[in-house]
Amino acid sequence: MTVEYDPFSDAAMRNPFPLYAAMRAEGKPHYIEKYDAWALARFEDVWEASQQHEGDVTWTDGATPGQLFLGEPIPRAFTTMDAPEHRRWRAVVRKDYTPASVAEQEQRFRALAREVLAPLLERGEFDVYSDYANRVFCLNSGYNLGLPKADAVTFRALIDDMLHRDPGQVGGGSERNQTAAAQLGGYLFEFVQTLRANPDLAVGHTAAYLNAEVDGERLDDEGMVNVLMNFLILGSETTPMVCAGAVYYLGQDQALRTQVLADASLVSPLYFETCRYDQPTNMLCRRAVKDFGLGGAQIKAGQALLYIYASANRDEVEFERADVFDIFREYPRDLTYGTGGHKCLGMHLATMGARVVLEELFNAISDYELLHEQCERVFGEHLSGFARVPITVTRESHQIAAK
Ligand code: HEM
Repeated sequence: MTVEYDPFSDAAMRNPFPLYAAMRAEGKPHYIEKYDAWALARFEDVWEASQQHEGDVTWTDGATPGQLFLGEPIPRAFTTMDAPEHRRWRAVVRKDYTPASVAEQEQRFRALAREVLAPLLERGEFDVYSDYANRVFCLNSGYNLGLPKADAVTFRALIDDMLHRDPGQVGGGSERNQTAAAQLGGYLFEFVQTLRANPDLAVGHTAAYLNAEVDGERLDDEGMVNVLMNFLILGSETTPMVCAGAVYYLGQDQALRTQVLADASLVSPLYFETCRYDQPTNMLCRRAVKDFGLGGAQIKAGQALLYIYASANRDEVEFERADVFDIFREYPRDLTYGTGGHKCLGMHLATMGARVVLEELFNAISDYELLHEQCERVFGEHLSGFARVPITVTRESHQIAAK
């Protein structure tokens, strides 16, 4: 059977999993003639490409399908640089993302989660994504950059508008997307200007990048806006979707829900299985700069590659019963945060933050019910997951075991 796969097609955006299974069944990377690109749908291919071919591909032509195939702008930041330059700019804030540093941040993060959750519990009905998890991660990203707390709601709305896709929309070029991107860029530009005039007021990542000099280069205003925008978006988009997804999947299984709400040690397994089953970073892209062989295909310099994490994580060769949501599964290799030199910088923060967000919620309630008909998934080629999971909560005196 010939597989018709286009990452921007309606079918791929609504439910790509049947297409992913069909591409994996081809037994090698899937060639997409329209884009002269290779879709890596199998776990082994994404793993090998990330671990062994970093020097054979470039990040500088973009990381999203829109950047590689639709000519969308590629903001220059370390996320779109190659080694060794990439490593040096990434290192500017690396100390804030080590396990030890993230452990130190937990108490402050938990206080944020409690502050956001308290009025929602009083309300009794709220959306786990936008009212809770996303708000906590936005406030945290704002804190890391030194942005005024009151502005978190504004930049959250702008990020939503930047990433919004109408059904049938190809790429992020709509007026709504562009206007929001310009407004967020403008907001960050003014922020950078203010801090250049008052350097003593800069804190966190903003201070680190304003003061950084790498190979004799300092960031100009555009470079500052790019790197700050990256941290705002990456730090607040994917993890809340996984938190919302975890609440969604648990909401469908009363027995498992009772078990998890009674045992804090199951919160992290719930988070990791949600990441595997419903990977929020659907795919990232690169372009080959050399010819190389991969999984039975001959990749040529100039061709694009789609690293489809969401498909790799459902690969039956790597995961038994890959299409079953099972928080008790064990597996030796993990692609949730990618692998290789560009592996997710925020992985420990995401793991800690999601655990805290879920622990705080489960600790405060005795049960909850999903408002099924109102749950919504994002519609887009790059990110995937739940962006709306409304619930009603029941509160009785309740504490989860390990706390
Ligand atoms: C569920 C949550 C998250 C998932 C699944 C996730 C996943 C990923 C993946 C797959 C990559 C690409 C890795 C590669 O190229 O091999 C990545 C890169 C990155 N992520 Fe995350 N991420 C998450 C949360 C976060 C958070 C909270 C931050 C906070 C700052 C963050 C910051 C970054 C950065 C800066 C990069 C680029 C690293 C580089 O190019 O050197 N991520 N992430």
